[in-house]
Amino acid sequence: MTDRYAVVGNPIAHSKSPLIHSMFARQTRQDMRYDAMLAPLDGFKTTADTFRQLGGKGMNVTVPFKLEAHQLATGLTERAGIAQAVNTLKFEDGQILGDNTDGAGLVQDIIGNLNMPITGKHILLMGAGGAARGVILPLLQQKPAMLAIANRTPQKAVALQKQFIQHGQTDAGDYAHFAGKRFDIIINATAASLNDALPALPPGIFAADALAYDMMYSAEPTRFLKYAEKQGVHHLADGIGMLVEQAAESFHLWRGIRPETKDIIAQLKNPG
Ligand code: ATR
Repeated sequence: MTDRYAVVGNPIAHSKSPLIHSMFARQTRQDMRYDAMLAPLDGFKTTADTFRQLGGKGMNVTVPFKLEAHQLATGLTERAGIAQAVNTLKFEDGQILGDNTDGAGLVQDIIGNLNMPITGKHILLMGAGGAARGVILPLLQQKPAMLAIANRTPQKAVALQKQFIQHGQTDAGDYAHFAGKRFDIIINATAASLNDALPALPPGIFAADALAYDMMYSAEPTRFLKYAEKQGVHHLADGIGMLVEQAAESFHLWRGIRPETKDIIAQLKNPG
């Protein structure tokens, strides 16, 4: 019997995950099927339980259900526990294992694909919502010189910093708090790009040879990436690489094989 997987979200129609996982399955010769499933906003648990009862082996979970997936899990990996959010569920022996592969995906993309070491670097993480929370521990595990968390509402950045204080060198505040500082890697984990908005970054924030990374992706470069380019930044990346890498990490949890990602990322970045 073909093993079944799905990505669950709302909305879900434009998800690239079914395409990515079908490419992984073909490449690694796995007998599996992966679908996109729309869950009603008040129906995540029912959707997940039904899929599991019908023999589903695992799920990716996306907006807005990552917190509910965290609650549904009967066991959590360390990184999912600390992120307080789950993007990957594995159904096995009556148990529901919850994992979060987003941060590992980001780190793998920055180090492995963009060839930018994180160790010893000064990193500015923009945003203090769920997207930011999920990547902090994996970034700190690479031992940056500093991980600064900037947020429009500074209290949220400070609260987040407190949770990770024992994991590495951190700082937190609003954007103005970082005026006069320079960073090697600036990551946009805010929802600003969704509304074509730009967080209020102080001038001169990009160090020479900096990487500007937007966790969002869209057909056109985001406002943040356009701004960075105007500031003379040459290394620009959107969230496609992270998307493929987090998928590879989920695939590995389910199937025990890590697919090759480089060609798939290139294909998604330059379709046709
Ligand atoms: P997610 O779970 O996707 O991270 P969220 O929890 O709603 O979503 O968090 C959204 C993040 O984007 C927050 O850090 C938010 O800043 P506030 O905490 O101050 O609201 C940030 N954000 C959204 N729109 C923004 C904008 N136009 N400029 C700056 N930050 C913005």
